[in-house]
Parts: sequence; structure tokens; C-alpha cells
Amino acid sequence: MTTRRNALKSLGLATLAIPSLAATIDSAPALPRTNDPQYWKKIRNQFMLANNSVFFNPGTVGVMPKVVVNKMTDYVKYLATHVADWAYKDDNKEEFISGYNNLLGLRTKVGKLINAQATEIAMTDNVTHGISYLANGITLQAGDEVLTTNQEHPGGRGGWLVKEKRFGVLFKEVAIGKPVKNADEVYQQIVNAFTPKTKVLMISHLISGSGAILPVKEICAEASKRGIFTILDGAQTIGHIKVDVKDIGCDAYVGCFHKWVGAPHGTGFMYVRQDKMKEIWTTVASARWDNHEDEGFRFTQRGTGNFAVLKGLDAALDFIFEIGTEKVYNRIKFLGERLRKGLKQNPKVKIFSPADESLCAGITVYNIEGMTGSKLQDEFWNRGRMRPRASGDVFGVRHCTHIFNSEEEIDKALAIVKTLTS
Ligand SMILES: Cc1ncc(COP(=O)(O)O)c(C=O)c1O
Repeated sequence: MTTRRNALKSLGLATLAIPSLAATIDSAPALPRTNDPQYWKKIRNQFMLANNSVFFNPGTVGVMPKVVVNKMTDYVKYLATHVADWAYKDDNKEEFISGYNNLLGLRTKVGKLINAQATEIAMTDNVTHGISYLANGITLQAGDEVLTTNQEHPGGRGGWLVKEKRFGVLFKEVAIGKPVKNADEVYQQIVNAFTPKTKVLMISHLISGSGAILPVKEICAEASKRGIFTILDGAQTIGHIKVDVKDIGCDAYVGCFHKWVGAPHGTGFMYVRQDKMKEIWTTVASARWDNHEDEGFRFTQRGTGNFAVLKGLDAALDFIFEIGTEKVYNRIKFLGERLRKGLKQNPKVKIFSPADESLCAGITVYNIEGMTGSKLQDEFWNRGRMRPRASGDVFGVRHCTHIFNSEEEIDKALAIVKTLTS
């Protein structure tokens, strides 16, 4: 458990005695022992989530553990009380204002999560910002092609559509399966769409509308051979499945923390390989717009932001590191697999996530014969106060599982599906 002294130190308050603040920080309960049979139940108690409903939608926004809420609100109170202590001298040390600070500690932690160096990481507010920085910052000529799939989120597509309209760049979408059948098929579909004019590949690592994990390492390797700049949209992967950008070999990776990491809303990052970062023009420009000493800082410096939110992000990263990231990923997958196994036994359920379990983790997309997504979403709420998210008329619901969920919750959801199909 975080000791009081450490907690105060990390808030920059080691020398200040503020009793009410210390009391809140100390209220964060200790994590259970790893061999505790009640381990996940106790982890669930680290969240404030109401017990009279069940949340199955971290694919939209996740859930902050108590320690994150406390860290964030403590900082809000601290700043409101002690802003006069800020001497404006060395902001990189004092950490009173974000958007000017290099956020090196935080960027180092993000680097640890995805296996990158801090200088390769810029903090952003979300994925849409990161992809827009890349789309805007990469120099392309009219007629150059940007390749993507037909299943990307508007936040991944928008920046390129601007580029297409403004500069005559072609934004090309290749159709992939829903469900994706297997890794080889989706690899071939994407790689076969490369042409000599393809200059950029921008695809999701994990497709949000089906839960399919794409074979990005193999796809990026083939793209790189052809000199194509590779960008992965990791909105749905960070905190959900293992991401190792060096192993994948992509040029850029964009992610957020407000979904699967359980960080405050408005937290994300953009990773660009050290040797490629210089090629990207700054979009949101301040004093460091052309300073290449620390490339990640160039993009991180984006005007006044919200430090309390970043304090919350820092705590959220510590929380998953303390549990162990592998343990988090395995638990998410275990619950997702339990759901899929149950659904597969029901012939009236159509699943749009891959049948191949190696391409799945915590997102399952499915529908029941004759239903729309909003009908199914409503049935879950009315019958069990359960909240998966509607995924359109055809595709039913997107049902996510996370560490705050339990086996019992999955089984209750399956029982609702059974009632609806009988
Ligand atoms: C695949 C994908 N890309 C991008 C986004 C947009 O993310 P953000 O809201 O962090 O910009 C989402 C959000 O759901 C997403 O699922």
C-alpha cells in the first residue's frame, strides 16, 4: 500500500502538513495478496462502482479505481488551496501546470507499459488528437495513398479525411471480415491492398466493433519492407492486451487511458519511433514547436491542461502495475472467453467476434436473432441492470469484460441471453 509519506511526496507535498489531504490519501485500501481466494472480489472493492448495476462497457469509457479518484480530487483541492506556493521557476520540477511540463515521469511510465523510451512518447488528451497530429504532421503529396480498413472509428479516420479533401491524398479503405475469420485471411486482405502509391497504413490494433485483434506485427513488417509508414490505433488495447511497440515494429502507435486503464477521461498518448519522430510536423504549436531535443515533449507541450487529471492517470498506471499487467490482461481475457463459450452454445446467437480465440480478448460483439442492438441493450438493462453497449441494428451489443467484473456477472448475462432466446 502507498505509505502516507510516499503519497505526499508524489503530490510534491512531503514538507507540507495538510491533515485532511493525508487522511484521504491514506484511505486507499491495500491490494489483496496474490494467493487470496477472494482476490478479484477484493479488487472489485477498490472501485466505487455501484453494486446494483453491472458495467460491461469500458470500450467506451472505463472505470476509475478509488485511488485514482482520490489522487485526482486531492490534487484539485491542493491546487485550489495552495496555488500561491507555485513560484513559476522550474515548472518541470514543480509540476503545477500541465501542457508546458515535460511530464517525464509519466511518459516514462507509459514507455514501460508499451516498451518505448520516454522521448518517443507524447502525452495527448485522447486517440483522436494523436491520430490527428500524425495525419496533419506527415507530409504527403496529392495522389499518395493512406490505407486503412472499413472498420475504423471516426477518431481514427477523421484526420485523414481532412487531408484527403484539403490536399488530394487518397484515403483507401479495404474490407475485412466481421467476424475476422483468421489471422492469415485478414493479413492477406490488407497486404494485397498495398500499391506503390501507399505511403501510410493506419489500422486499429484491436477493432472496436468486433473485438478482433489484428496480426499487426506481420502486417507492419510487410508494410515496412515497402517503405510504408505504419500507424496503429490502440484505443482499445492499452490496459486490455499486451502492447510492445518494439516487438510489433510499427512506426507510430496511438492510445488512450480512459478506456481500459481506468484513468480519468481525456488522457492519451502518441508514440513515434525515435528515428521517425523528426519527420512529423507539430500541429498544436507552442514554444517548443521546432525543438527536437526531446521529440515527445514537442507534442506534449500543448498549452494549459489539467494536472489533476494527469495525477489520476499516474495513479491508474500504478494501480495496474501493482496488480501486474499480465494478470490484468489474463483476467480480462478469461472473463471474455467465459462469455464467448456460453454464447457459442446458443444457436440463436450470432457472434461477430473471431471464432479463433487467439484473436479475442475482452470484447465480444453478438446479437440475438430478430433483435436490434438497442433492443438487446434495453433488455439487458431492464432484466438485469446490465450495461453492454448497442452496436447498431445488425451487430447487437458490444459486451466488454474487465477486472471489476465477476464470473457471476457473466453467468447472469448468459442467463438473460438464454431467456431471450427461449
Ligand atoms: C478504435 C478507436 N479509435 C479511436 C477512438 C476514439 O478514441 P478517443 O475518444 O480517445 O479519441 C475509439 C473510441 O472508442 C476507438 O474505439
